[in-house]
Amino acid sequence: MSIQKLTFGKPEALTPSRFCPEFRGCGADEQRLPSGSLPPIGFRQTPRGCVLELPFSEQEEYYGFGLQLHSFGHKNRKLTLRVNSDPLFSTGDSHAPVPFFVCTAGYGVFVDTARYAEFYMGVQRVTSATRGESGHSADNTRELYTLRDSGDERVIAIHIPSAAGVDLYWIEGENILDVVRQYNRMAGGGPEIPDWGLGTYYRCHLDADAHSVMQTADYLHGHGLPCSVIGLEPHWQTRSYSCSYIWSEKFPPDLRRKMEAHLAGRGLHLNLWQHAFVHPDSPLYDAIGEGCGSYKVWGGKVPDFAVPHTQHAFAAYQSEAQVSDVTDGFKLDECDGSDYTRDWSFPNCSEFPSGLDGEQYHSLFGMLYARAALAALSGRPTFGQCRSMGALATSLPFALYSDLYDHRAFIRGCVNSGFSGLLWAPELRHGESRSDLIRRLQTAVFSAQCMFNGWYCTEAPWIGLDCEDEVRELLCLRERLRPMLRRAYDAYRADGTPPVRALVCEYTRDRETWEIDDEYLFCENLLVAPMTAEQESRKVYLPAGDWADFFTGERVEAGWREYAGDGIPVYRRL
Ligand code: GAL
Repeated sequence: MSIQKLTFGKPEALTPSRFCPEFRGCGADEQRLPSGSLPPIGFRQTPRGCVLELPFSEQEEYYGFGLQLHSFGHKNRKLTLRVNSDPLFSTGDSHAPVPFFVCTAGYGVFVDTARYAEFYMGVQRVTSATRGESGHSADNTRELYTLRDSGDERVIAIHIPSAAGVDLYWIEGENILDVVRQYNRMAGGGPEIPDWGLGTYYRCHLDADAHSVMQTADYLHGHGLPCSVIGLEPHWQTRSYSCSYIWSEKFPPDLRRKMEAHLAGRGLHLNLWQHAFVHPDSPLYDAIGEGCGSYKVWGGKVPDFAVPHTQHAFAAYQSEAQVSDVTDGFKLDECDGSDYTRDWSFPNCSEFPSGLDGEQYHSLFGMLYARAALAALSGRPTFGQCRSMGALATSLPFALYSDLYDHRAFIRGCVNSGFSGLLWAPELRHGESRSDLIRRLQTAVFSAQCMFNGWYCTEAPWIGLDCEDEVRELLCLRERLRPMLRRAYDAYRADGTPPVRALVCEYTRDRETWEIDDEYLFCENLLVAPMTAEQESRKVYLPAGDWADFFTGERVEAGWREYAGDGIPVYRRL
C-alpha cells in the first residue's frame, strides 16, 4: 500500500487539500512509492490551463469521480466534474463530483483541484505508430478499431482549466478497497457518527408547526415506528429562499422549548433545514458584511466560508439562535446549484474575498458550508445532510441526498458513493404505489443514512398506501442493524473502509463484479441487492466464498442466482 505525490508545473494555491485541515498527504504510515516505479505521466501547459496524460488500458475498468448517478464504469467516457444538481445523463456533472478515480489494475489517482476538470478516460494520442507504417490515419472502421485496440496508443487525458500546474496523488493497493481506504485515510478517515445517527430520520411537511411536530413524534412513538431524528423543512424560518435563520411565529419561544422537551422525552433529535444564501432580514446579513461573493442568489448574500470572519459570524449566530441539546443537526440544502433547472446559484465568474472564483467555490462550497455548520455545533456529535460534497470530504458527518432521481439511480448512488469518501442517503419521499414505497424503504434501511423526506407530504407517506405494518417491520430491522452499522462506521473512521461499497472494491479480480452497479457490500459482511417496484425478480451475483441468506440463515451457493419475492435479497458472507 502506498501513495506518491507528484507535482506538475505550478499548482494553484486554492485547492481541496488546502481547505481540508485533516488532510495528511502521503502520511507517515503510508509507504512512499519509490520514484521511477510509476508509469510515465505526461504534462503540458496550454492556453486553456494544463493537461495530464496517464496510461490507459482497454483491459481494465475505471470507477469513482464522486456521486455519479447515471454510470458506473467510466472507461471510454468523458467526464466534466462540474457541481450540478439533476444531471440527466452521464456527463460527470454531480452534486458531489470528486477528481479521484480507481482502476481495476490496483491503483487510484487523486488530482488536487477545485477546477471543473475534464477527464477523457481513453483517447487516442497521435504518434507515429498511430499513423501506421504508411503514415496515414485510419480511414475505415476496421482499421480504426484495430488502432483503437492497440491499447498503448490510448491515454487518459485530464484537462484542468485555468491552472498552470497541479498536484497528483498516485495510490497503489492490493485491490480497489485498499486504494479507497488510503484515499479516505489521506482525507482524515471516516466521520464520527453518533449512535442516534444510525437510526431513522423523519422530515416533516414544510409547513409543520410546533404542535404538529409533537403530534408526529407521538404518532411514530405510539405506533411503534422507531425514529431517531425529526427534521424541519423550510418554513420553520420567517424567510427561506433566501434564508433568515429566524424562527417563524409557528415556533414561539415557549412552545419551542416545550417541543424540544417533548422530543427529548421520546429520545428524538431535531434537524433543521437551511441553505446558505442569507436574506437581508437575517441578522447574519450585516454580520457577514463584505465577506460574501459578488453576486446574490434569491436576493441573498453568498457567504464566503473560506473567510474566517464569515465562517465565525455564521457559526456564532446559529449556535446562539438554533443549536441546543435537541437541535443538533442541519440539512444543508441548495449548495450544489443547477445549470439545468432555472440556472440557479451563483455564476462561475463570481469573485469571493478569499480569492476563490465561482467555479472553485462551487467545488468547495458543500464542504466549507458543512464545516461552518460543525463550528455552530461546537463539537456536539451530529450526522446531518448536505446536498453537495467533493474532494477529501471523507471525515465530514453529512450524507448526500436528493429527490430528483429514480430508484434505480438511487441504488447506483449507494454503489458509487463508496469509491470517493462519500455517504449517500437514498431518501424516501412518497411512493407511487405500496410496492414502490416498500422497495424504496428496503434500500433506505440498508443504506448509510435511513431517511424519510416528507417535506411535501401532509401525512406520513405510507398512511394512504395502507402499509404501516410493513413499514414498522422494516424500521425495526434498521434498529437491529445498528450494532453492525456502529462497527462499520468505527471501521470507516479507523481504516477508511466505506460502510457501503461496490462488489468490485473487494472482488477486484473477479471480472463478473466489474459491471455490477445494483448490488453492494454493506457493513462488514452483508451483500445487498435491492429491487425496484418494476422488478418481479432479479439476478444476484455472490462472489466466490461462503454465503447464507441473511434472513433465513440458509446456506447459498456462490455465483449467479435468481431472486423472486417481496423481500430484499440480502446475504451474509460467512
Ligand atoms: C429541495 C430539497 C428537498 C426539500 C425542498 C424544500 O431543494 O431537495 O429535500 O428540502 O428543497 O424546499
